[in-house]
Amino acid sequence: MTPTTAFWLAGRQATGDTTFDVTSPWDNRLVGKVSVPTEAQVEEAVAKAHATVEWFAATPAHVRAAALLHVSEGLASRTEEIAQLISAENGKPIKWARGEVGRAVSVFRFAAEEARRFNGGEAQRLDTDAGGQGRLALTRRFPKGVVLGIAPFNFPLNLCAHKVAPAIAAGVPIILKPAPATPLSGLILGELLAQTDLPEGSWSILPVANDRMPALVQDERLPVISFTGSETVGYAIMDSVPRKHCTLELGGNGAAVVLADWSSDADLDLAAQRIAMFSNYQGGQSCISVQRVIADAAVYDRLVPRIVAAVEAQVTGDPSDAATDVGPLVSEDAAKRVESWVDEAAAAGAEVLTGGKRDAAAYAPTVLASVPGEVTIAREEVFGPVLVVTRTEGEDEAFAAVNSSKYGLQAGVFTHDVRAAFRAHRALEVGGVIIGDVPSYRADQMPYGGAKLSGVGREGVRYAMDDYTYERVLVLTGLDL
Ligand code: SIN
Repeated sequence: MTPTTAFWLAGRQATGDTTFDVTSPWDNRLVGKVSVPTEAQVEEAVAKAHATVEWFAATPAHVRAAALLHVSEGLASRTEEIAQLISAENGKPIKWARGEVGRAVSVFRFAAEEARRFNGGEAQRLDTDAGGQGRLALTRRFPKGVVLGIAPFNFPLNLCAHKVAPAIAAGVPIILKPAPATPLSGLILGELLAQTDLPEGSWSILPVANDRMPALVQDERLPVISFTGSETVGYAIMDSVPRKHCTLELGGNGAAVVLADWSSDADLDLAAQRIAMFSNYQGGQSCISVQRVIADAAVYDRLVPRIVAAVEAQVTGDPSDAATDVGPLVSEDAAKRVESWVDEAAAAGAEVLTGGKRDAAAYAPTVLASVPGEVTIAREEVFGPVLVVTRTEGEDEAFAAVNSSKYGLQAGVFTHDVRAAFRAHRALEVGGVIIGDVPSYRADQMPYGGAKLSGVGREGVRYAMDDYTYERVLVLTGLDL
Protein backbone atom coordinates (compact mmCIF):
# COMPACT_ATOMS: atom_id res chain seq x y z
CA MET A 1 0.00 0.00 0.00
CA THR A 2 1.28 3.49 -0.84
CA PRO A 3 1.99 5.43 2.36
CA THR A 4 0.42 8.86 2.84
CA THR A 5 2.76 11.84 2.94
CA ALA A 6 1.96 14.22 5.77
CA PHE A 7 2.08 17.98 5.40
CA TRP A 8 3.85 20.50 7.64
CA LEU A 9 1.83 22.68 9.98
CA ALA A 10 3.81 25.28 11.92
CA GLY A 11 6.97 23.21 11.71
CA ARG A 12 5.53 19.82 12.66
CA GLN A 13 4.06 16.94 10.70
CA ALA A 14 0.29 16.68 10.50
CA THR A 15 -2.40 14.88 8.57
CA GLY A 16 -5.93 15.92 7.66
CA ASP A 17 -9.11 13.99 6.88
CA THR A 18 -8.59 13.51 3.16
CA THR A 19 -5.83 12.65 0.71
CA PHE A 20 -5.15 13.08 -2.97
CA ASP A 21 -3.12 11.00 -5.38
CA VAL A 22 0.03 12.09 -7.16
CA THR A 23 0.60 10.21 -10.40
CA SER A 24 3.40 10.09 -12.95
CA PRO A 25 2.61 11.87 -16.22
CA TRP A 26 4.81 9.32 -17.99
CA ASP A 27 2.98 6.07 -17.13
CA ASN A 28 0.17 7.21 -14.80
CA ARG A 29 1.53 5.08 -11.96
CA LEU A 30 0.73 6.17 -8.42
CA VAL A 31 3.74 8.05 -7.04
CA GLY A 32 2.29 9.03 -3.68
CA LYS A 33 -0.71 9.99 -1.59
CA VAL A 34 -0.71 13.38 0.07
CA SER A 35 -2.70 14.38 3.11
CA VAL A 36 -4.77 17.56 2.76
CA PRO A 37 -5.07 20.04 5.65
CA THR A 38 -8.51 20.79 7.00
CA GLU A 39 -9.84 24.35 7.29
CA ALA A 40 -9.01 24.30 11.01
CA GLN A 41 -5.44 23.21 10.30
CA VAL A 42 -4.95 25.95 7.71
CA GLU A 43 -6.29 28.46 10.23
CA GLU A 44 -3.84 27.17 12.85
CA ALA A 45 -0.90 27.54 10.43
CA VAL A 46 -1.90 31.10 9.53
CA ALA A 47 -2.50 32.14 13.13
CA LYS A 48 0.83 30.71 14.26
CA ALA A 49 2.73 32.30 11.39
CA HIS A 50 1.11 35.64 12.16
CA ALA A 51 2.00 35.34 15.84
CA THR A 52 5.62 34.64 14.91
CA VAL A 53 6.32 37.72 12.76
CA GLU A 54 7.96 39.92 15.36
CA TRP A 55 10.11 37.45 17.16
CA PHE A 56 11.19 35.46 14.08
CA ALA A 57 12.71 38.67 12.72
CA ALA A 58 14.59 38.99 16.01
CA THR A 59 16.14 35.48 15.93
CA PRO A 60 19.92 35.68 15.66
CA ALA A 61 21.29 35.55 12.12
CA HIS A 62 23.48 32.57 13.00
CA VAL A 63 20.41 30.48 13.94
CA ARG A 64 18.73 31.17 10.61
CA ALA A 65 21.99 30.66 8.70
CA ALA A 66 22.64 27.33 10.43
CA ALA A 67 19.12 26.12 9.62
CA LEU A 68 19.51 27.08 5.96
CA LEU A 69 22.88 25.40 5.72
CA HIS A 70 21.41 22.26 7.28
CA VAL A 71 18.74 22.15 4.57
CA SER A 72 21.34 22.73 1.86
CA GLU A 73 23.50 19.88 3.16
CA GLY A 74 20.49 17.63 3.67
CA LEU A 75 19.37 18.15 0.08
CA ALA A 76 22.89 17.45 -1.17
CA SER A 77 23.12 14.21 0.80
CA ARG A 78 19.74 13.03 -0.56
CA THR A 79 20.23 14.19 -4.15
CA GLU A 80 19.48 10.91 -5.88
CA GLU A 81 16.38 10.10 -3.83
CA ILE A 82 14.93 13.58 -4.34
CA ALA A 83 15.80 13.66 -8.04
CA GLN A 84 13.96 10.35 -8.49
CA LEU A 85 10.94 11.85 -6.74
CA ILE A 86 10.96 15.00 -8.90
CA SER A 87 11.25 12.88 -12.00
CA ALA A 88 8.43 10.57 -10.91
CA GLU A 89 5.87 13.21 -9.97
CA ASN A 90 6.75 15.74 -12.66
CA GLY A 91 7.93 13.57 -15.58
CA LYS A 92 11.16 15.55 -15.72
CA PRO A 93 14.09 13.55 -17.15
CA ILE A 94 16.31 12.35 -14.36
CA LYS A 95 19.34 14.29 -15.64
CA TRP A 96 17.39 17.54 -15.33
CA ALA A 97 15.93 16.50 -11.98
CA ARG A 98 19.44 15.96 -10.60
CA GLY A 99 20.35 19.43 -11.83
CA GLU A 100 17.33 20.86 -10.08
CA VAL A 101 18.35 19.35 -6.74
CA GLY A 102 21.82 20.83 -7.22
CA ARG A 103 20.29 24.24 -7.76
CA ALA A 104 18.17 23.96 -4.61
CA VAL A 105 21.30 23.01 -2.65
CA SER A 106 22.83 26.29 -3.87
CA VAL A 107 19.70 28.34 -3.14
CA PHE A 108 19.74 27.30 0.52
CA ARG A 109 23.50 27.83 0.74
CA PHE A 110 23.21 31.30 -0.80
CA ALA A 111 20.41 32.06 1.66
CA ALA A 112 22.60 30.96 4.59
CA GLU A 113 25.29 33.35 3.40
CA GLU A 114 22.79 36.19 2.87
CA ALA A 115 21.27 35.64 6.32
CA ARG A 116 24.63 36.53 7.85
CA ARG A 117 25.02 39.64 5.68
CA PHE A 118 21.44 40.89 5.83
CA ASN A 119 20.36 43.90 7.82
CA GLY A 120 23.76 45.07 8.97
CA GLY A 121 22.15 48.49 8.95
CA GLU A 122 23.15 51.40 6.77
CA ALA A 123 24.18 54.65 8.44
CA GLN A 124 23.59 57.95 6.67
CA ARG A 125 24.68 61.28 8.08
CA LEU A 126 21.94 63.88 7.83
CA ASP A 127 24.01 67.00 8.47
CA THR A 128 24.39 67.51 4.72
CA ASP A 129 21.74 70.19 5.32
CA ALA A 130 21.64 72.56 8.27
CA GLY A 131 18.30 71.11 9.45
CA GLY A 132 19.95 67.71 9.98
CA GLN A 133 22.88 68.87 12.08
CA GLY A 134 23.81 66.31 14.73
CA ARG A 135 21.51 63.70 13.20
CA LEU A 136 22.19 60.24 11.79
CA ALA A 137 19.79 57.90 10.00
CA LEU A 138 20.16 54.19 10.50
CA THR A 139 18.21 52.01 8.08
CA ARG A 140 17.28 48.40 8.73
CA ARG A 141 14.77 46.11 7.03
CA PHE A 142 11.75 44.56 8.75
CA PRO A 143 9.19 41.98 7.55
CA LYS A 144 6.17 43.20 5.65
CA GLY A 145 4.41 40.26 7.30
CA VAL A 146 3.83 36.57 6.62
CA VAL A 147 4.53 35.47 3.05
CA LEU A 148 2.11 33.24 1.19
CA GLY A 149 4.31 31.41 -1.32
CA ILE A 150 2.53 29.71 -4.22
CA ALA A 151 4.81 27.46 -6.25
CA PRO A 152 4.38 25.91 -9.72
CA PHE A 153 4.84 22.33 -10.95
CA ASN A 154 7.69 22.87 -13.39
CA PHE A 155 10.54 23.11 -10.85
CA PRO A 156 8.74 21.48 -7.93
CA LEU A 157 11.72 21.65 -5.59
CA ASN A 158 13.75 24.65 -6.67
CA LEU A 159 10.90 27.10 -7.07
CA CYS A 160 9.70 26.11 -3.58
CA ALA A 161 13.27 26.74 -2.42
CA HIS A 162 13.14 30.20 -4.00
CA LYS A 163 10.13 31.07 -1.84
CA VAL A 164 11.21 29.46 1.45
CA ALA A 165 14.96 30.07 1.69
CA PRO A 166 14.86 33.89 1.33
CA ALA A 167 12.00 34.08 3.83
CA ILE A 168 13.98 32.21 6.47
CA ALA A 169 17.12 34.18 5.66
CA ALA A 170 15.26 37.45 6.22
CA GLY A 171 13.43 36.17 9.32
CA VAL A 172 10.01 36.29 7.67
CA PRO A 173 7.44 33.52 8.33
CA ILE A 174 6.17 31.72 5.25
CA ILE A 175 3.27 29.50 4.33
CA LEU A 176 4.15 27.56 1.20
CA LYS A 177 1.63 25.97 -1.09
CA PRO A 178 3.26 23.53 -3.52
CA ALA A 179 1.62 22.75 -6.87
CA PRO A 180 -1.14 20.10 -6.66
CA ALA A 181 0.46 18.03 -9.44
CA THR A 182 3.89 17.94 -7.76
CA PRO A 183 3.62 18.44 -3.99
CA LEU A 184 6.02 15.70 -2.87
CA SER A 185 9.27 17.47 -3.76
CA GLY A 186 8.23 20.60 -1.85
CA LEU A 187 7.12 18.55 1.16
CA ILE A 188 10.62 17.03 1.38
CA LEU A 189 11.86 20.47 2.38
CA GLY A 190 9.72 20.12 5.50
CA GLU A 191 11.64 17.00 6.58
CA LEU A 192 14.87 18.99 6.60
CA LEU A 193 13.44 22.20 8.05
CA ALA A 194 11.88 20.20 10.90
CA GLN A 195 15.37 19.07 11.97
CA THR A 196 16.41 22.68 12.66
CA ASP A 197 15.89 25.12 15.52
CA LEU A 198 13.59 27.39 13.53
CA PRO A 199 10.69 28.59 15.68
CA GLU A 200 7.27 27.02 15.52
CA GLY A 201 5.10 29.01 13.16
CA SER A 202 7.97 30.32 11.06
CA TRP A 203 7.15 27.90 8.26
CA SER A 204 4.33 25.65 7.06
CA ILE A 205 3.94 23.64 3.86
CA LEU A 206 0.28 23.13 3.05
CA PRO A 207 -0.82 21.18 -0.03
CA VAL A 208 -4.25 22.79 -0.31
CA ALA A 209 -6.22 22.57 -3.53
CA ASN A 210 -6.27 25.57 -5.87
CA ASP A 211 -9.97 26.18 -5.28
CA ARG A 212 -9.27 26.86 -1.59
CA MET A 213 -6.64 29.47 -2.37
CA PRO A 214 -8.89 32.54 -2.71
CA ALA A 215 -9.59 32.44 1.04
CA LEU A 216 -5.86 32.36 1.83
CA VAL A 217 -5.10 35.04 -0.73
CA GLN A 218 -7.71 37.29 0.90
CA ASP A 219 -6.49 36.64 4.46
CA GLU A 220 -5.19 39.93 5.87
CA ARG A 221 -2.68 38.13 8.06
CA LEU A 222 -0.82 37.18 4.88
CA PRO A 223 0.12 40.59 3.39
CA VAL A 224 2.77 39.32 0.98
CA ILE A 225 2.04 36.96 -1.89
CA SER A 226 4.85 35.43 -3.88
CA PHE A 227 3.34 33.62 -6.84
CA THR A 228 4.99 31.72 -9.68
CA GLY A 229 2.72 30.43 -12.41
CA SER A 230 0.51 31.55 -15.25
CA GLU A 231 -0.21 35.12 -16.26
CA THR A 232 -3.96 34.55 -15.91
CA VAL A 233 -3.81 33.26 -12.35
CA GLY A 234 -1.10 35.70 -11.27
CA TYR A 235 -2.95 38.81 -12.35
CA ALA A 236 -6.25 37.44 -11.02
CA ILE A 237 -4.57 37.16 -7.61
CA MET A 238 -3.10 40.64 -7.81
CA ASP A 239 -6.36 42.18 -8.99
CA SER A 240 -8.23 40.50 -6.14
CA VAL A 241 -5.94 41.99 -3.45
CA PRO A 242 -4.79 45.37 -4.81
CA ARG A 243 -3.50 46.48 -1.39
CA LYS A 244 -1.25 43.50 -0.84
CA HIS A 245 2.36 43.22 -1.90
CA CYS A 246 2.42 40.72 -4.77
CA THR A 247 5.48 39.33 -6.45
CA LEU A 248 4.44 37.65 -9.66
CA GLU A 249 6.84 35.49 -11.63
CA LEU A 250 4.80 34.69 -14.70
CA GLY A 251 5.14 33.49 -18.23
CA GLY A 252 7.37 34.29 -21.14
CA ASN A 253 7.97 33.30 -24.73
CA GLY A 254 11.74 33.59 -24.52
CA ALA A 255 13.61 34.74 -27.61
CA ALA A 256 17.11 33.78 -28.71
CA VAL A 257 18.47 36.37 -31.14
CA VAL A 258 21.31 35.33 -33.45
CA LEU A 259 23.00 38.40 -34.88
CA ALA A 260 24.94 38.50 -38.15
CA ASP A 261 28.38 38.44 -36.49
CA TRP A 262 27.64 35.06 -34.84
CA SER A 263 28.54 33.36 -38.09
CA SER A 264 31.38 30.84 -37.95
CA ASP A 265 30.49 27.15 -38.19
CA ALA A 266 31.48 26.76 -34.54
CA ASP A 267 29.29 29.73 -33.55
CA LEU A 268 26.26 28.35 -35.35
CA ASP A 269 26.79 24.82 -34.04
CA LEU A 270 26.94 26.17 -30.49
CA ALA A 271 23.84 28.33 -30.90
CA ALA A 272 21.92 25.43 -32.45
CA GLN A 273 22.91 23.07 -29.64
CA ARG A 274 21.93 25.50 -26.90
CA ILE A 275 18.67 26.45 -28.63
CA ALA A 276 17.69 22.82 -29.18
CA MET A 277 18.50 21.85 -25.61
CA PHE A 278 16.76 24.79 -23.98
CA SER A 279 13.63 24.79 -26.11
CA ASN A 280 13.08 21.22 -24.95
CA TYR A 281 14.40 20.96 -21.40
CA GLN A 282 11.61 19.90 -19.09
CA GLY A 283 9.50 19.50 -22.21
CA GLY A 284 9.73 23.25 -22.74
CA GLN A 285 7.95 23.78 -19.42
CA SER A 286 10.10 26.62 -18.18
CA CYS A 287 9.16 30.28 -18.30
CA ILE A 288 12.52 31.00 -19.92
CA SER A 289 12.71 28.12 -22.37
CA VAL A 290 13.49 29.16 -25.94
CA GLN A 291 10.23 29.61 -27.79
CA ARG A 292 11.37 32.06 -30.46
CA VAL A 293 14.56 32.11 -32.52
CA ILE A 294 15.12 35.44 -34.24
CA ALA A 295 17.94 34.91 -36.72
CA ASP A 296 19.59 37.50 -38.91
CA ALA A 297 19.15 36.87 -42.64
CA ALA A 298 22.96 36.65 -42.91
CA VAL A 299 22.99 33.42 -40.85
CA TYR A 300 19.40 32.12 -41.04
CA ASP A 301 19.89 29.57 -43.86
CA ARG A 302 22.95 28.04 -42.20
CA LEU A 303 21.48 28.13 -38.69
CA VAL A 304 18.02 26.65 -39.15
CA PRO A 305 19.09 23.22 -40.54
CA ARG A 306 21.52 22.95 -37.64
CA ILE A 307 18.72 23.71 -35.17
CA VAL A 308 16.46 21.12 -36.79
CA ALA A 309 19.23 18.49 -36.63
CA ALA A 310 19.98 19.33 -32.99
CA VAL A 311 16.29 19.18 -32.07
CA GLU A 312 15.94 15.81 -33.80
CA ALA A 313 18.95 14.56 -31.83
CA GLN A 314 17.14 15.18 -28.52
CA VAL A 315 16.44 11.82 -26.94
CA THR A 316 12.77 11.49 -26.02
CA GLY A 317 11.18 8.90 -23.79
CA ASP A 318 11.15 7.51 -20.28
CA PRO A 319 12.18 10.24 -17.81
CA SER A 320 13.84 7.71 -15.52
CA ASP A 321 16.33 6.78 -18.26
CA ALA A 322 19.61 8.67 -17.85
CA ALA A 323 19.85 9.12 -21.63
CA THR A 324 16.48 10.89 -21.94
CA ASP A 325 16.53 14.60 -22.75
CA VAL A 326 12.80 15.19 -23.19
CA GLY A 327 10.07 13.44 -21.21
CA PRO A 328 6.31 13.97 -21.13
CA LEU A 329 4.52 17.20 -20.34
CA VAL A 330 2.86 17.46 -16.95
CA SER A 331 -0.40 15.97 -18.25
CA GLU A 332 -2.07 14.69 -21.38
CA ASP A 333 -4.28 17.80 -21.36
CA ALA A 334 -1.17 19.99 -21.49
CA ALA A 335 0.15 18.01 -24.47
CA LYS A 336 -3.23 18.26 -26.21
CA ARG A 337 -3.19 22.05 -25.80
CA VAL A 338 0.29 22.25 -27.36
CA GLU A 339 -0.88 20.00 -30.18
CA SER A 340 -3.87 22.24 -30.86
CA TRP A 341 -1.65 25.35 -31.04
CA VAL A 342 0.76 23.68 -33.49
CA ASP A 343 -2.14 22.40 -35.58
CA GLU A 344 -3.65 25.88 -35.65
CA ALA A 345 -0.33 27.35 -36.86
CA ALA A 346 0.10 24.64 -39.51
CA ALA A 347 -3.46 25.20 -40.77
CA ALA A 348 -2.66 28.92 -41.07
CA GLY A 349 0.39 28.18 -43.25
CA ALA A 350 3.27 27.53 -40.83
CA GLU A 351 5.88 24.99 -41.94
CA VAL A 352 6.50 22.13 -39.49
CA LEU A 353 10.23 21.57 -39.97
CA THR A 354 10.27 18.69 -37.51
CA GLY A 355 8.02 17.21 -34.79
CA GLY A 356 4.37 18.13 -34.61
CA LYS A 357 3.25 14.81 -33.09
CA ARG A 358 1.72 13.83 -29.76
CA ASP A 359 1.76 10.49 -27.94
CA ALA A 360 -0.36 10.64 -24.75
CA ALA A 361 1.32 13.28 -22.51
CA ALA A 362 4.45 13.44 -24.67
CA TYR A 363 4.82 16.00 -27.45
CA ALA A 364 7.62 15.64 -29.99
CA PRO A 365 10.27 18.39 -30.06
CA THR A 366 9.00 20.67 -32.80
CA VAL A 367 10.36 23.47 -34.98
CA LEU A 368 8.05 25.79 -36.89
CA ALA A 369 8.88 28.37 -39.57
CA SER A 370 6.83 30.96 -41.48
CA VAL A 371 4.40 31.25 -38.57
CA PRO A 372 1.71 33.90 -39.18
CA GLY A 373 1.75 36.59 -36.50
CA GLU A 374 -1.89 36.21 -35.54
CA VAL A 375 -1.85 32.53 -34.47
CA THR A 376 -1.81 31.62 -30.80
CA ILE A 377 1.69 30.16 -30.74
CA ALA A 378 3.14 33.38 -32.17
CA ARG A 379 1.74 35.41 -29.27
CA GLU A 380 1.25 33.25 -26.18
CA GLU A 381 3.54 31.17 -23.98
CA VAL A 382 3.49 27.62 -25.36
CA PHE A 383 5.03 25.94 -22.27
CA GLY A 384 5.89 22.96 -24.45
CA PRO A 385 8.75 21.74 -26.67
CA VAL A 386 8.02 23.99 -29.63
CA LEU A 387 10.26 26.52 -31.30
CA VAL A 388 9.33 29.20 -33.85
CA VAL A 389 12.11 30.47 -36.14
CA THR A 390 11.94 33.92 -37.75
CA ARG A 391 14.25 35.69 -40.20
CA THR A 392 15.10 39.36 -39.55
CA GLU A 393 17.36 41.99 -41.17
CA GLY A 394 19.72 43.81 -38.84
CA GLU A 395 19.84 44.45 -35.13
CA ASP A 396 16.97 46.94 -34.90
CA GLU A 397 14.50 44.60 -36.55
CA ALA A 398 15.67 41.71 -34.36
CA PHE A 399 15.28 43.70 -31.15
CA ALA A 400 11.88 44.99 -32.29
CA ALA A 401 10.82 41.37 -32.88
CA VAL A 402 11.81 40.46 -29.32
CA ASN A 403 9.84 43.41 -27.99
CA SER A 404 6.78 42.63 -30.08
CA SER A 405 5.80 40.13 -27.38
CA LYS A 406 3.48 41.05 -24.51
CA TYR A 407 5.98 39.19 -22.30
CA GLY A 408 9.44 40.23 -21.19
CA LEU A 409 11.15 37.72 -18.93
CA GLN A 410 14.59 37.06 -20.42
CA ALA A 411 16.20 37.21 -23.88
CA GLY A 412 19.38 35.65 -25.23
CA VAL A 413 21.56 37.41 -27.80
CA PHE A 414 24.27 35.54 -29.68
CA THR A 415 26.84 38.18 -30.59
CA HIS A 416 30.58 38.74 -30.09
CA ASP A 417 30.19 42.51 -30.22
CA VAL A 418 30.24 44.08 -26.77
CA ARG A 419 28.66 47.26 -28.14
CA ALA A 420 25.77 45.21 -29.52
CA ALA A 421 25.49 43.62 -26.07
CA PHE A 422 25.05 47.04 -24.48
CA ARG A 423 22.56 48.08 -27.16
CA ALA A 424 20.59 44.89 -26.48
CA HIS A 425 20.65 45.59 -22.76
CA ARG A 426 19.23 49.05 -23.40
CA ALA A 427 16.70 48.08 -26.06
CA LEU A 428 15.18 44.81 -24.89
CA GLU A 429 12.15 45.09 -22.63
CA VAL A 430 12.97 42.09 -20.44
CA GLY A 431 14.14 41.30 -16.93
CA GLY A 432 17.42 39.76 -18.11
CA VAL A 433 19.57 39.81 -21.25
CA ILE A 434 21.95 36.88 -21.68
CA ILE A 435 24.79 37.49 -24.13
CA GLY A 436 26.28 34.52 -25.98
CA ASP A 437 23.61 32.13 -24.74
CA VAL A 438 19.91 31.33 -24.63
CA PRO A 439 17.33 33.19 -22.49
CA SER A 440 17.05 30.08 -20.33
CA TYR A 441 20.23 30.77 -18.38
CA ARG A 442 19.45 31.47 -14.75
CA ALA A 443 21.88 31.69 -11.87
CA ASP A 444 19.88 31.38 -8.67
CA GLN A 445 21.59 34.29 -6.93
CA MET A 446 20.91 36.85 -9.65
CA PRO A 447 17.73 38.94 -9.88
CA TYR A 448 15.08 37.07 -11.81
CA GLY A 449 11.73 38.40 -12.92
CA GLY A 450 9.89 40.02 -15.73
CA ALA A 451 8.96 43.19 -17.52
CA LYS A 452 5.57 43.74 -19.15
CA LEU A 453 3.17 40.81 -18.56
CA SER A 454 5.94 38.50 -17.33
CA GLY A 455 5.41 39.77 -13.83
CA VAL A 456 6.19 42.11 -11.01
CA GLY A 457 9.11 42.08 -8.57
CA ARG A 458 12.21 39.95 -8.47
CA GLU A 459 13.29 36.58 -7.10
CA GLY A 460 16.89 35.48 -6.60
CA VAL A 461 17.78 35.00 -2.97
CA ARG A 462 18.87 38.50 -1.98
CA TYR A 463 16.21 40.17 -4.13
CA ALA A 464 13.40 38.12 -2.62
CA MET A 465 14.67 39.03 0.86
CA ASP A 466 14.35 42.69 -0.06
CA ASP A 467 10.95 42.01 -1.50
CA TYR A 468 9.64 40.38 1.69
CA THR A 469 10.84 43.26 3.88
CA TYR A 470 10.72 47.04 3.99
CA GLU A 471 13.15 49.72 5.06
CA ARG A 472 12.57 51.36 8.41
CA VAL A 473 14.71 54.37 9.28
CA LEU A 474 15.91 55.20 12.79
CA VAL A 475 16.94 58.84 13.16
CA LEU A 476 19.33 59.59 16.02
CA THR A 477 19.47 63.18 17.25
CA GLY A 478 21.98 65.29 19.14
CA LEU A 479 25.04 63.42 17.99
CA ASP A 480 28.53 64.73 17.74
CA LEU A 481 29.12 63.56 14.18
C1 SIN B 1 10.73 29.46 -14.39
O1 SIN B 1 10.14 28.62 -15.06
O2 SIN B 1 10.38 30.64 -14.31
C2 SIN B 1 11.96 29.10 -13.62
C3 SIN B 1 13.13 28.93 -14.50
C4 SIN B 1 14.34 28.52 -13.73
O3 SIN B 1 14.39 28.68 -12.50
O4 SIN B 1 15.32 28.08 -14.35
